[in-house]
Amino acid sequence: MLEIRNLHARIAEDGTEIIRGLNLTVKAGEVAAIMGPNGSGKSTLSYVLSGREDYEVTEGDILYNGESILELDPAERAAKGLFLAFQYPVEIPGVATMQFLKVAMNEQRKARGEAELSTPDFMRKVKEAASALKVEPEMLRRPLNVGFSGGEKKRVEILQMALLEPKLCVLDETDSGLDIDALRVVSDGVNALRSPDRAMIVITHYQRLLDHIQPDSVHVLYKGQVIKSGDAELAKELEANGYEDVIKSAA
Ligand SMILES: Nc1ncnc2c1ncn2[C@@H]1O[C@H](COP(=O)(O)OP(=O)(O)OP(=O)(O)O)[C@@H](O)[C@H]1O
Ligand SMILES: [Mg+2]
Repeated sequence: MLEIRNLHARIAEDGTEIIRGLNLTVKAGEVAAIMGPNGSGKSTLSYVLSGREDYEVTEGDILYNGESILELDPAERAAKGLFLAFQYPVEIPGVATMQFLKVAMNEQRKARGEAELSTPDFMRKVKEAASALKVEPEMLRRPLNVGFSGGEKKRVEILQMALLEPKLCVLDETDSGLDIDALRVVSDGVNALRSPDRAMIVITHYQRLLDHIQPDSVHVLYKGQVIKSGDAELAKELEANGYEDVIKSAA
């Protein structure tokens, strides 16, 4: 589903190269975890995947279902089913969360060639999904993310993901700021979306998220490259031993 080949990407403004020859393949149905020390380029990779303009790809390619997406803008990528949950979700003052969800959902449906949802159908879907993720209906009347606590933002992101039914989901540190119960609720929400035709990339620092969301593969990012890949055991080794050994043996 996703094939990243020898990707090099830099910050458009000053030319600093952050992604330096990254290779990664994620199959449909797969949940891939990406781990790695602070500053290794994990969030940058998610931004480059989403098509943010602040980054330039200088070499390599990103293939999505066999086709390069480098020339597509973020909206076109989203229309193709790419979904990104940010490490730091953006606040949108003046737009009620509910309204945002409705527009986003209908745009996505349009892109898939499906009819717009009627208001009652939309309300029903949102209520179901919100209750599964323990998001209070009251919150949906507030402007998106404005004044939401860290954990509330993360829950609402997963709510968006559940409603938009994307094909490739990238979750950047969805576990950060979640309390113990919320971690379970959010993980259950993510697990409920696992399906043979959907792939997920879960960026995390901690094994505890992977106790809930069992990854099929684990990849260590370091200085803009994947330096080691393995299965769920690799995450456990990292938790026990840290990154030092992996970094040394890759050098
Ligand atoms: N605009 C910028 N100018 C200069 N350096 C930048 C810029 N944006 C990112 N970087 C650098 O790129 C590197 C990768 O950052 P990135 O946010 O991708 O790391 P990360 O792996 O997500 O880290 P963390 O685990 O802390 O979230 C860091 O060294 C960061 O300082
Ligand atoms: Mg990051």
